[in-house]
Amino acid sequence: VIAKLPERERLGEHHFRLVDGNIPTLGPGEMLCRTILASIDPAQRVWLIPHGYRAEHREMALDDGNVAPIQDQDADAVADFTRRAQPLRDIRKTLEPGDVMMAFTLCEVIDSAGTDIPNGSVVASVAGWQEYAAVPAVWARPIEVHTALTHHLGALGITGLTAYFGIQLADPKPRETTVISAAAGAVGTIAGQLARLAGARVVGLTGSDDKAHMLERELGFDATVNYRRDSFAADLRAACPHGVDVYLDSVGGRVLETVLDALNVFGRVSCCGMVSEYDGMPPVGPANVPSAINVKRLRIQGYSVTDYIDDWPQAECRMGEWLRSGELKAIEDTIAGLENAPRALVGLLAGENVGKRTIRVGPDPS
Ligand SMILES: NC(=O)c1ccc[n+]([C@@H]2O[C@H](COP(=O)([O-])OP(=O)(O)OC[C@H]3O[C@@H](n4cnc5c(N)ncnc54)[C@H](OP(=O)(O)O)[C@@H]3O)[C@@H](O)[C@H]2O)c1
Repeated sequence: VIAKLPERERLGEHHFRLVDGNIPTLGPGEMLCRTILASIDPAQRVWLIPHGYRAEHREMALDDGNVAPIQDQDADAVADFTRRAQPLRDIRKTLEPGDVMMAFTLCEVIDSAGTDIPNGSVVASVAGWQEYAAVPAVWARPIEVHTALTHHLGALGITGLTAYFGIQLADPKPRETTVISAAAGAVGTIAGQLARLAGARVVGLTGSDDKAHMLERELGFDATVNYRRDSFAADLRAACPHGVDVYLDSVGGRVLETVLDALNVFGRVSCCGMVSEYDGMPPVGPANVPSAINVKRLRIQGYSVTDYIDDWPQAECRMGEWLRSGELKAIEDTIAGLENAPRALVGLLAGENVGKRTIRVGPDPS
């Protein structure tokens, strides 16, 4: 559970504490779920910002009375959207000390309690950092399991889909130089491979030389650049001798500023996230906005994976085929034990993870 919300400081393990509790009793419409895997995501740090993003951006909220994309529709449509959106209503809730830490999860339904999801089903939900949860059936999305469950939370889950739609949005063409930030992470490892499948020349940005070698050796990135070096701008220019055509930005700040300088005329940027601002750091720049956008006629667009909910099944299907054929590799970083979740999140924000980080809370269903 959350012991204390971080104010303007980096997240630490002391912001959480481990408690024993009872298996929850079910309310109307709820099922009892056993957590199998919990996702570790940079967004969890954003959910911990007091009065943060959710309060400032009411248009994102899916609370009662403010279901923005479907506000004029009936209750069935709301329930249908909520299920397909993988209970986003829940993640918009403001977190308080004492709350169970929220997390995307894969769970096994162990008591469907008369709801329409049978016992034994594997569901994507937001059960959080706990072994058992009462999950409203309309907030759970049944998964058709056809590969390792870790893939369903990674390459075929939220982060894989985020990579898919971010690349689709910027639409790299054959031989165009495509730069991917946070390239060795969950979104980045998939996005870089998808850009390569589109025929682009792919350059990954990461903060570690070991990760850079992995990207080039195992995932076929054409080049990599360490953004932590003082020579970052010059190194990026050297790795992109024909300039940058497409950029998937998960970082914001100085990294975005440097890539904007390297973009070609009519370059395209998909703004996926801004991890450099999540962990207590004040936003810095970029200073070249709007000049670079105007002078180079750039197209810069933010997006959310939820903009494409109707297209998720088709995207999952295509990604599943690429995984099966070996054209796409899922790099995963699974840590055993729920008690290690705080350390895993703090470590992810410090760049410890390689690929999709998850916590193994319990065994796969037998
Ligand atoms: N738009 C959407 O719908 C959507 C959905 C899901 C995720 N996202 C966003 O996608 C991005 C990546 O998420 P993910 O789950 O794939 O995480 P991830 O990349 O697996 O993990 C975060 C990585 O960010 C890098 N990083 C941390 N601090 C940094 C900094 N100050 N500057 C540059 N890099 C830094 C670290 O790698 P290094 O070692 O390389 O520094 C770290 O491993 C995040 O911005 C997230 O919010 C967006």
